[in-house]
Amino acid sequence: MMASTHSAPNNHRPHKPARMNPPPPPHAALLQADAVHLGFGGIKALAGVSLSARAGEITAIIGPNGAGKTSLFNTISGFYRPQQGRIAFAGQDITRVGAARRAAMGLARTFQNVALFRGMSVLDNIKLGGHTRLGANPLTALWYLGPAQREEMALRREIEREVIDFLEIDHVRHQAVAALPYGLQKRVELARALAMRPKVLMLDEPVAGMNREETEDMARFILDIQEERGITVLLIEHDMGLVMDIANHVVVLNFGQVIGEGTPAEVRHDPEVVRAYLGERAAAAAPAAAPAGSATVGA
Ligand SMILES: Nc1ncnc2c1ncn2[C@@H]1O[C@H](COP(=O)(O)OP(=O)(O)OP(=O)(O)O)[C@@H](O)[C@H]1O
Ligand SMILES: [Mg+2]
Repeated sequence: MMASTHSAPNNHRPHKPARMNPPPPPHAALLQADAVHLGFGGIKALAGVSLSARAGEITAIIGPNGAGKTSLFNTISGFYRPQQGRIAFAGQDITRVGAARRAAMGLARTFQNVALFRGMSVLDNIKLGGHTRLGANPLTALWYLGPAQREEMALRREIEREVIDFLEIDHVRHQAVAALPYGLQKRVELARALAMRPKVLMLDEPVAGMNREETEDMARFILDIQEERGITVLLIEHDMGLVMDIANHVVVLNFGQVIGEGTPAEVRHDPEVVRAYLGERAAAAAPAAAPAGSATVGA
């Protein structure tokens, strides 16, 4: 969204101080983690992780199994509270803000293992994402009672146009999620996150378990979300072909620490990253799909 166009000429002092919270300029850090520590008993999932995701960019988070990628998402989205460190969103410290509030502020995510209501229809699952930002009580709205009805109708129209048509899942909207192939379930989960109208979309392995065609479709959707909607994307992925193709910036985690970051090209040639993660995988990577959880480096 643009700042107000009503501004004084440059050589005049404005009458009022600048707005308290102007929208961040493109490519400023929209989301930041500073020295985040997260432990589970004796396990240190995150040992002082700092990361900054610039507005409008796709920031990829890569690294071996158990490196702390999902744990980082859990601290950013508010599912876990770090023992030390700070999370900031649009310049505001949100370390102590609960997960539901963070979602309402514009942080949406998908899960490494699809987390949908399997018995419910595609449309109802997606509408639950939309309800995180409705004024009316979501339960009231769900049952179509009283004043919630108009809001509900507007939400439904918007979801149909901007989420269901966009993600090309019109043909399955009334099917139960459990009946869908896995690749489509992942797309429904993305739809639910999009229905929240996020500012930041956090995708935890969005193409894991997908075939090449499904992966290419998902890559196109993620790029459209970034380019056409200006949504900032955080992407955890083991599919290095996808990461190298679409990420603007890559952060590499290993044993709960950042061991490298930069453009895809920089990271790809970083000796420490190659040693800790990419090297052996690249050597082992076959053109066909690699086993789940292993990195595949595209040609
Ligand atoms: N809720 C939890 N309780 C205990 N240990 C946990 C919990 N969540 C994560 N861990 C541990 O924290 C470490 C980091 O796990 P995490 O899931 O963040 O890794 P990851 O980088 O997402 O790995 P993968 O690529 O396999 O998904 C691991 O040692 C994991 O076992
Ligand atoms: Mg994970």
